[in-house]
Amino acid sequence: QNRLFGVIETYRDRLPMDGIDQIVTLGEGATPLVPAPRLGAELDATVWVKVEGANPTGSFKDRGMTMAMTKALADGSKAVVCASTGNTSASASAYASRAGMTPVVLLPQGKIAAGKLAQAVVHGGRIIQILGNFDDCLRIARELAENFPVSLVNSINPYRIEGQKTAAFEVVDVLGDAPDIHALPVGNAGNITAYWKGYREYVADGPASHTPRMFGFQAAGAAPLVLGHDVNDPETVATAIRIGRPASGKLALAARDESEGLIDAVTDEQILDAQAFLAAREGIFVEPASAVGVAGLFKLKSEGRLDPGLRIVVTVTGNGLKDIDTALSRTTLSTEAVEASTDQVAALLDFCS
Ligand code: F0G
Repeated sequence: QNRLFGVIETYRDRLPMDGIDQIVTLGEGATPLVPAPRLGAELDATVWVKVEGANPTGSFKDRGMTMAMTKALADGSKAVVCASTGNTSASASAYASRAGMTPVVLLPQGKIAAGKLAQAVVHGGRIIQILGNFDDCLRIARELAENFPVSLVNSINPYRIEGQKTAAFEVVDVLGDAPDIHALPVGNAGNITAYWKGYREYVADGPASHTPRMFGFQAAGAAPLVLGHDVNDPETVATAIRIGRPASGKLALAARDESEGLIDAVTDEQILDAQAFLAAREGIFVEPASAVGVAGLFKLKSEGRLDPGLRIVVTVTGNGLKDIDTALSRTTLSTEAVEASTDQVAALLDFCS
């Protein structure tokens, strides 16, 4: 991929940039679309993994944040606010500090992975923990933005969706057309909405001949779109998608229906198994929520609901280093210690004898 710097420069003519000249960017986008042959063998499909953890702050949020922050700066905002399960707050803090604005982040207390909290801290976020869940945080963030001089940078901000749709453009630009299926995790439902918008625009304008079926997956303990009603006390090991009232839920259901796709749920165990598979078999370390799309594909395959021979892209949304506690909690950390001697090290390795 031969790229300009960041998604706005690369896709400027497909983004609402009228009257805006100062861009806030950290060089997001152009993330790897990695062939995943072992995953493909398991699923009897040709599979690529869109590695969004390769973005500047380690998640797909940066694609939307460059747009939301560019717009906020153009509007003369001095401060931005977001509710977050972690990644949005990390991204908003980084992009706001780069733009010289104050980031205010509302987080559900005690439910943020340590790496993400560290990011908000080092980027100078004004961090306010809320004694409630993400849905409470989002309600407050909305009310703040309605009543005070602060811009909302959650994905209900349409500029976020505009930026995030560029991931679909990249997939088509690399593969030459849309895949048969695009699978991804669903939390607040902004990202599935954004991909669907991007694919539709590329079909309307020519680069793609068809749209993919959108396969969204939620965590079983936080699956309002599967259950058909809000969830008051969402719970899952995948804290990034611990959300009971997805703000863009209706748009996610429209993406599902218009694309002849589906939205299904996977258990925490299936999520952690998929995370382990990606790390140990494909060399891709993602956070738990990011493995939900892969977990969903495994589930469909095991239930005989995945036709063979399809071309599948699955988005993994965030970097595994953001939440090492969960990853390490499942394995025994096995290290060995010996004297500083090549012979002693060789003696431990069967292929050296
Ligand atoms: N994967 C990761 C790693 C996320 O952080 C999120 C959302 C999602 C998937 C779901 O995306 O909300 O667009 O459906 N994280 C938000 C946050 C809620 O605050 O960081 P979605």
